[in-house]
Amino acid sequence: MDYEVRGASSVSGSFKVPGDKSISHRALLFSSLANGESVIRGISTGADVKSTAACLSALGVEIVEDSGELRVRSKGKSSYSAPKSPLDAGNSGTTMRLLSGILAGQKFESTITGDETLRRRPMQRIIEPLSQMGANITSSDNFTAPLKIFPSKNFHGIRYELPLPSAQVKSCILFAGLFADGETTVMEPVESRDHTERMLRLSKIKTKSGYEIKISGDHVIQPAEYDVAGDISSAAFYLAAAAILPNSSVTATGITLNPTRTGFLDVLAAMGAKVEIENTRDAAGELIGDVTVSHSELKGVEIGGSMIPRLIDELPLIGVMAAFARGETVVHDADDLRRKESDRIVAVVDNLEAMGAEVSELDDGFAVNGTGNLIGAEIDSYKDHRIAMAFAVAGLAARGETIIKNAEWAEISFPEFYQILEKLVIRD
Ligand code: S3P
Repeated sequence: MDYEVRGASSVSGSFKVPGDKSISHRALLFSSLANGESVIRGISTGADVKSTAACLSALGVEIVEDSGELRVRSKGKSSYSAPKSPLDAGNSGTTMRLLSGILAGQKFESTITGDETLRRRPMQRIIEPLSQMGANITSSDNFTAPLKIFPSKNFHGIRYELPLPSAQVKSCILFAGLFADGETTVMEPVESRDHTERMLRLSKIKTKSGYEIKISGDHVIQPAEYDVAGDISSAAFYLAAAAILPNSSVTATGITLNPTRTGFLDVLAAMGAKVEIENTRDAAGELIGDVTVSHSELKGVEIGGSMIPRLIDELPLIGVMAAFARGETVVHDADDLRRKESDRIVAVVDNLEAMGAEVSELDDGFAVNGTGNLIGAEIDSYKDHRIAMAFAVAGLAARGETIIKNAEWAEISFPEFYQILEKLVIRD
């Protein structure tokens, strides 16, 4: 599908986005390991989370939809049954990496695969620590999926220092640790999103002590009720549109304000946008609230170091915002962007260039000299949801018409994206 977007004069209004993708995956996975019925309200509507649900169903977990809520029934962490065919994680790296941690501790053989993009993404980052734990995993060339996971005779805890900040790798090891003999310790030099640790706390499992996160094979997961907060990474697109377009102000209600996810709000404020946070409250161990962003003149910023994991998924959008900010914006320490659903450094640089921006590619990021001027162009989504959505926002602020090719990839995380956008847009 092509999505055509013309320049808008402003965006205005309040909106609610579907449930957070990272929290939704984890709510499903934890529910599948608990003995009893768990309830998940407000789950993500994206295709990625549907991939996790489909894999769990194939492993014998009962998942039923009941008046907009999901009920997940399981008989506990040793109750999965062997899947009859390869598990399909679709486009979802989170599904493949987190579920592999659980599969490594099972008494049956399984295969997990995904779409063409996912089959190119690096899996050595999970194969390495899982193999140290005694897992038996084979992969395709260059440590890519399909992964074949065989039962291990000696699956045991390890101490592992993450070589890169990654919540997916950390969570994979913590899930595996629930099946390992003894204790597993993960050391995280730079903090990444901590939804897994927070959900473990719902089962009274306290994992954190300083930089170390610990889990033990005798820990038991309890059934729970999960109220999934709105996804800050989905809300970010409209918040960015409000920051860029004059006379704009939008409010996202009930979104995740977990401090490991709010780097984008810090960047908005540092760029000069007006950011107001209200109605903060707790939802199943996660901080949530309402966020209003209003337009102001933007200035360039430098982003790197420990900030990166707190806004990793918002970096393409920050690239777009940078084109409208006075001065230079530089993003560095983000080379893992090259290994997301697309090479997001190339996707941002190429598409911004097509729209006439002054942008350069760095090994580990990009630099944009804001001119305040973009021209409508044909945009390649690179079959990457976040690239399609970030450049739809660019199109709103550009002169002329922008066409997003393969715009339907937004469905991976946010099927309602274009519909909500149209409601907020004001055209003279
Ligand atoms: C995620 C972690 C991040 C993020 C991804 C979701 C998660 O990936 O980019 O969209 O739910 O744990 P990495 O942990 O690989 O950086």
